[in-house]
Amino acid sequence: MQHILARDIAEVDDIRDYLAAQEQKSLLRFLTCGSVDDGKSTLIGRLLYDTKLIFEDQLAALERDSRKHGTTGADIDFALLVDGLEAEREQGITIDVAYRFFATPKRKFIVADTPGHEQYTRNMATGASTADVAVVLVDARQGILRQTRRHSIIASLLGIRRIVLAVNKIDLVGFDRRVFERIREDYLAFASGLGFDGIEAIPMSARFGDNVTRRSETMAWYRGPTLLEHLEIVPVGEALSERPFRFPVQYVNRPNLDFRGFAGTIASGSIARGDEIVVAKSGRPSRVKRIVAHGGDLERAVEGQAVTLVLEDEIEVSRGNMLVAPGDRPHVADQLTANLVWFGGTPMLPGRSYLLRTETDHVSATVTALKYRIDVNSFAHEASKSLEMNEVGVCDISLQSPIVFDGFGENRNTGAFIVIDRMTNATVGAGMILRPLRRAANIHWQALDVDKAARASLKHQRSAVLWFTGLSGSGKSTIANLLERKLHAAGRHTYLLDGDNVRHGLNRDLGFSEEDRVENIRRVAEVARLMADAGLIVLVSFISPFRAERRMARERMAEGEFIEIFVDTPFEECARRDPKGLYARALGGEIRNFTGLDSPYEAPEKPEIHLSTLGKSPEEMVETIETWLRERDSADQQYDAGGGI
Ligand code: ADX
Repeated sequence: MQHILARDIAEVDDIRDYLAAQEQKSLLRFLTCGSVDDGKSTLIGRLLYDTKLIFEDQLAALERDSRKHGTTGADIDFALLVDGLEAEREQGITIDVAYRFFATPKRKFIVADTPGHEQYTRNMATGASTADVAVVLVDARQGILRQTRRHSIIASLLGIRRIVLAVNKIDLVGFDRRVFERIREDYLAFASGLGFDGIEAIPMSARFGDNVTRRSETMAWYRGPTLLEHLEIVPVGEALSERPFRFPVQYVNRPNLDFRGFAGTIASGSIARGDEIVVAKSGRPSRVKRIVAHGGDLERAVEGQAVTLVLEDEIEVSRGNMLVAPGDRPHVADQLTANLVWFGGTPMLPGRSYLLRTETDHVSATVTALKYRIDVNSFAHEASKSLEMNEVGVCDISLQSPIVFDGFGENRNTGAFIVIDRMTNATVGAGMILRPLRRAANIHWQALDVDKAARASLKHQRSAVLWFTGLSGSGKSTIANLLERKLHAAGRHTYLLDGDNVRHGLNRDLGFSEEDRVENIRRVAEVARLMADAGLIVLVSFISPFRAERRMARERMAEGEFIEIFVDTPFEECARRDPKGLYARALGGEIRNFTGLDSPYEAPEKPEIHLSTLGKSPEEMVETIETWLRERDSADQQYDAGGGI
């Protein structure tokens, strides 16, 4: 996931040199979290300031060293970060996490500096996705807060195994040992269920520097390490090269006809020339012929290195696929269960279509079931229909096509994803995959001999979905009904799906909350798709107030099959007509969540047909639609012979 996430990296050239020189030392990635006023910036500022001298010494040493030894070929982290920048630009994702670098003689550090405004959780989840340690800041005057718990749970979900509990502003409680001990015990009691391998509590004053990099003279009672001492010795990662080989393909590198390689960053494990691999999605085996890196060919490459692999065989591998170890393969599935941290401003709704993005793949996704939400105070599993901003839950997710992944517990690089809102392009969630859904493996597509084209041609027509959207009482059903009559009279095979009618049967369990409307449209889109597949001309007359679901419906249909018809009647006019007396009752406060009143209607931006109904008769509207269809069919030579709609 880290490739998607880096931003705001200053002084890239310095960092490149710096990282090259630092390559020999171990790297610790950590993030800080806490509430807004806990002193996070002061703490980071202090760490950077106090280690700055060391940093400059190191740079001077580096210059001498590189003159002696030449390039070290250690572009690893640099490449990784630059990849991140490019990927981000390409995808229009903006995430406010700044990565800062510093080092001591013992170790180098990258701290994910996540700004603490209301989007905090999102930024934290972003920064945490690669971190080894979370420094959880607590104000000594306040103790453990809801935020502290929330961030700790997220850190745990994101695979962080080590926590530093930084009890900050200890100077403001008179450097009192009892205050520190109480907070420490509170936290240990809370965090015992979160699966951390280590929790180190340190009393400190970031402001005055006590126990940050310098041992406090005032707190003689504290005998543990300073923050920096602890960060220098805390264990990082396992032996990376021992994990199974995973190479998500970022792009196919083909500068000329003689060279074809697959470029990417090794997400885990290692690879040597001559090793066997398989292509995850197809299972096709091959061998590694060359490992090409910046400085030239390599015999072997390990996790984190950006390389281009050339294979012995000419096989098809595109972006989003993975080259993997034959003896230890990842999952390939289109349904999975995951922990989901939501940070979108609008709630996560099951049934809504989002974009799910893994390290290299992206695919349409819907949450098919929100199994439960997790209460951050009690860890209780609560039933819920949606996830609000900052909430965490476990979901079943269904994807439009299979992706390659591991369980997050086994591999944080290949087991994580982010969720993107398709309308705004904003990153609205982060997911940690628990497992593939087994039921998905047992359901396959059955190939049928009689297909849509065959069914439609028997009816001498082309299947289509005429999707009417507009306010209640706007005239959708009247127009659709009249159009169906005319189509029927002309010998067309049609079916009209009407909101009120379908809500009496298939959708009788649904009301008018946002999540129910999403599900309402999801189901009717599926039914319309089946009917179109049967070769019918389907008329759908539902308010369908949300753009996201109309778009989802459009994407379910074949190219050109979905025709969106916006029945545009102003709210006032609908209320004046009020054919079912609902407006009077809604305006009188008797009906809640009424479209156009206290539930939104998102007008289509680019409908195929826009009907402004004011002052026009239903007959005129139907004629407009018929004209549109005729023009389309005559423009579409291909369908002339078979007759259009
Ligand atoms: S949708 O929003 O989920 O697409 P749908 O088209 O199925 O709505 O159903 C709308 C019909 O339900 C309206 O034409 C109206 O008769 C009835 N209705 C009852 N309550 C509401 C409400 N709160 N908002 C809108 N329509 C309602």
